[in-house]
Amino acid sequence: MAKDVIVACDFSCAEKTYEFLGLFRGEKPFVKIGMELFYAEGPQIVREIKKRGHRIFLDLKLHDIPNTVKKTMAVLSGLDVDMTNVHAAGTVNMMKAAIEGLTRADGTRPLLIAVTQLTSTDQRSMEEDLWIEKPMGKVVEHYADNARKAGLDGVVCSPLEAKTVHALCGNNFITVTPGVRFEENAKGDQKRVMTPAQARAAGSDYIVMGRPITEADDPVKAYSKAKKEFAGE
Ligand code: C5P
Repeated sequence: MAKDVIVACDFSCAEKTYEFLGLFRGEKPFVKIGMELFYAEGPQIVREIKKRGHRIFLDLKLHDIPNTVKKTMAVLSGLDVDMTNVHAAGTVNMMKAAIEGLTRADGTRPLLIAVTQLTSTDQRSMEEDLWIEKPMGKVVEHYADNARKAGLDGVVCSPLEAKTVHALCGNNFITVTPGVRFEENAKGDQKRVMTPAQARAAGSDYIVMGRPITEADDPVKAYSKAKKEFAGE
């Protein structure tokens, strides 16, 4: 399984994003484009970043009826992204429809992963707001297993959950894990964090890092530090 660092480009507009990516001379980080940037700039931002030679994780977290998700995935597949995602809460049928929509005529498709439970959801809000009265760990495992059954490639989860997910769904089932910080960084609004080296030891396949790289004094240096630590160097 390819291990890599994905840089969350949580910028509000194309200009700031290109300015940031322009700092990397020669190197082409795997980038994550989220809802803010995609809704601000539309599909053109994906085409442009792809044209510049970056791999793209398009993090739009789809959750709708299977037919709508299938048709939307066909559009995203045409944008030639490398990885995209859905909410596992959309059900196994919705995830199956997502795979169908994403698969191109030649049988190839971007990687598809599922969000299990957002890390902003805690046990209390899951029970009180969603009426899910199972322990969080069990819910994450169940949703990951549903994603595997639907044929998805992996899940977004906390690095703390990566080992359990691999034990349940196999080592080829990828774990993409945000909530990663350098030893010296403040945690910010991420509650449960790990360093790139700890995330590697925990079995993460891809780590997603935003602010520790985008807001660093020297983003290129921070990115290469993350790569080295995550590669175990
Ligand atoms: O800046 P930071 O490293 O916290 O960015 C993490 C990225 O991962 C953000 O784009 C955030 O939206 C995303 N994310 C997360 N927790 C999840 C899912 C996605 O932090 N459970």
